[in-house]
Amino acid sequence: MKKDLLSIRDLTKDEIVDLINRGLEIKKGGRSTKRPLRGYTMGLIFEKASTRTRISFETAMFRLGGETLFLSAGDTQMSRNEEVKDSARVLSRYLDILVIRTFSQEFIEEMSEWADIPVINALSDLYHPCQILSDLMTVKEKKGTLNGLKVAWVGDGNNVAHSWINASRLLGFDLVMACPADYKPRAEILEGTEDNIRLMDNPIDAVRDADIINTDVWTSMGQDSEREQRVLDFQGFQVNKAVVETAKPDVLVMHCLPAHRGEEITDEVLEGPNSVVFDQAENKMHVHQAILEKFLVTQGTRTK
Ligand code: CP
Ligand code: NVA
Repeated sequence: MKKDLLSIRDLTKDEIVDLINRGLEIKKGGRSTKRPLRGYTMGLIFEKASTRTRISFETAMFRLGGETLFLSAGDTQMSRNEEVKDSARVLSRYLDILVIRTFSQEFIEEMSEWADIPVINALSDLYHPCQILSDLMTVKEKKGTLNGLKVAWVGDGNNVAHSWINASRLLGFDLVMACPADYKPRAEILEGTEDNIRLMDNPIDAVRDADIINTDVWTSMGQDSEREQRVLDFQGFQVNKAVVETAKPDVLVMHCLPAHRGEEITDEVLEGPNSVVFDQAENKMHVHQAILEKFLVTQGTRTK
């Protein structure tokens, strides 16, 4: 088992399945009086906004008996260019685990290289691994299995899409993606994938017979200056009634949220009977408990 969770590819297929099953077990068990992480401290470094990931990680840690320190990037010496390798080693002396949301994947990787404690990627420009674990947990919860499903991705080939590609690579489910020409997933993420991952030009073709339709915002955090152009370029890549009706009748419509109704998804679909977006959001809290248990208790990395 790896020390860190920087990408879904840091996990094996079995580890993914175990995390999902543990998340489901925690959800089913309700609130527990056990506090396995009493005395542990989690540090959160968030350089981008967050509602779900931050609060669900904090709540997960609280439910397990541990404490959280939210390290506002601007208030630490990191904002004054203290070297990453120094910050990582200092924080490792105080904390038991670091959860980071930032722009560059390289920053998270450098922190992980120098930190003695587990480092968890809570979203970078490249990946959002924790999101995909809660999404897969939601799929298993609703469909009873992760096998034999067709997942369609409609929209930007972004950080969340990259993590879905990594999950499909490891778990083997079919992933069909429809992204505008200039917004396809990065070539290096697709490199070496098998033919269970396919790119298509048209959302309607991609979602035909799909069990799951997934989408995300057209303009991710950090891309606000591109917003006007993106709105033009993504026309035709909206998850709307016609798209949903092309998939299987019991298709799950997924969105990591926050959503922009009227852009990547219509209000009607987001609020409709196939939408599971609020289950996805809730499941982040359960799967984050499973992640904290795995990296702190199961792995037994605690040295302090
Ligand atoms: N889905 C997700 O990561 O949401 P937040 O940006 O609110 O954390
Ligand atoms: N792709 C989005 C996901 C937000 C949870 C972003 O990076 O802003």
